Amino acid sequence: MGDACFLGVDIGTSAVKVLIVDSDERPVADAEVGLATSRPAPGWSEQHPDIWWQAVRQALAEVSASTPGVLSRVAAVGLSGQMHGAVLIGDDDRPIRPAILWNDGRAAAEAIALNAAMPDLGQIAGVPAMAGFLAPKIAWLRHNEPDALASTKRILLPKDWVRLQLTGEFATDMCDAAGSLLLDEARRQWAVTVVEAVGLHLDQLPRLLEGPDISGRVTPGAAAATGLPEGIPVVAGAGDAAAAGIGIGAVADGDAFISLGTSSQLFLTTADYRPNPSVLVHAFAHALPNRWFQMAAMLNGASVMAWTAGVTGVSDLGAALEAVAERGQAISPVTFLPYLQGERTPHDDPAARGVFFGMDGGTDGLDLLQAAVEGMAFTLVDAVAALETAGPVPAALAAVGGGSRGRIVMEVVASALGRPIRRYVGGERGPAFGVARLARLAVTGETVAEVCGKPELRDVIQPNAERQAALAARLPLYRDLYRALKPLFPR
Ligand code: XUL
Repeated sequence: MGDACFLGVDIGTSAVKVLIVDSDERPVADAEVGLATSRPAPGWSEQHPDIWWQAVRQALAEVSASTPGVLSRVAAVGLSGQMHGAVLIGDDDRPIRPAILWNDGRAAAEAIALNAAMPDLGQIAGVPAMAGFLAPKIAWLRHNEPDALASTKRILLPKDWVRLQLTGEFATDMCDAAGSLLLDEARRQWAVTVVEAVGLHLDQLPRLLEGPDISGRVTPGAAAATGLPEGIPVVAGAGDAAAAGIGIGAVADGDAFISLGTSSQLFLTTADYRPNPSVLVHAFAHALPNRWFQMAAMLNGASVMAWTAGVTGVSDLGAALEAVAERGQAISPVTFLPYLQGERTPHDDPAARGVFFGMDGGTDGLDLLQAAVEGMAFTLVDAVAALETAGPVPAALAAVGGGSRGRIVMEVVASALGRPIRRYVGGERGPAFGVARLARLAVTGETVAEVCGKPELRDVIQPNAERQAALAARLPLYRDLYRALKPLFPR
């Protein structure tokens, strides 16, 4: 492939990230453009699709400026992004309204109604309906914005709006389709019964492809808007959860990792479809054919640390985490429920909210930040417990995503889980790297084993015995606090 490069684009929630790697998987250029989320009502979360496309163009302009000529070397593009969002497209191929995102809790009642109407939904679609998924949002729109739904020609997932801009094609990949709750997971086809139950037609849904399949080619208009070569392939790609898995080489049965981004996931690759709906584990199609995964999906990941830093007036989160590490306190005196955006696994509770418990006059900002890290780590403990109801979770877990950068964060996570955490070189590159690999697969003729290996191991972070004991002793209080407050959150 000579000096060919591969571009991964990740439509994240807090930022659009682009990453270009060369044929030795060395990063050649990258850029990140921040995104704002609007919250028109409590528990709601929206972004207009236009800001994603604008951010993609800006990020590509930035890499072109920092690394002149790099875009002309791009041989193929992979798309990844936040899952579950509802993008409604009208006759003119324009968005009808802002997208309703994965962390939007407005469709809680519709999710309950869908589960009651279809008791086998979790078996078909991999997990019962929860508020953030696309299917219950369609039901919410039917009740609350019938005109918007009536003028909807097509429904897309977030990254697939960017695909439409790049290629003019309506298509998606199996993993993102899974997150709509409209996919028959075992057959990897749209689930007609579910599609009809929410009042949609199959012709409103995008074409279904496997991750490395070519979905279309960069059009002359998109080439002019982005600087990418006209006609290069754009592969289907993957929802961000599976894309992170491809990047870290989690492609064989039993490969497991934690992803710490705005949200967090515990992800386990499976060789077949293994639904476990009663504990709200998601069993979804992976980004490669004939593979699936089980996932505990938590809505409050590394973002809770950034949020706590923000409200306590900390401008440098990394330095504040260093200060927490230097203080050497085995556990914060404060306990934090990190449910700032409600929670999915294991609670399915869009009404849950964040709580700091146990403050006194001596509590300071670092105690609150340490409590935030510990609260996030406790969500991962609950995640392991949920996955373990169906089978073993490996003794050592890998960690990826921006939140895995901080050593103290990883030490708290390793201690809370009582498991070593493996970090790989480039593990913070996340989903964009994974879909750059899928793009490469599409054009080089190489095998999955050749392209989707595990990156070089950077380090292994062991549990700290003192922290581990303190966190284990605190866990019952953390769980009791949620149980006690659950009935109060809706008020
Ligand atoms: C997975 C999930 C998140 C979002 C946003 O179920 O909700 O991964 O895709 O990152």
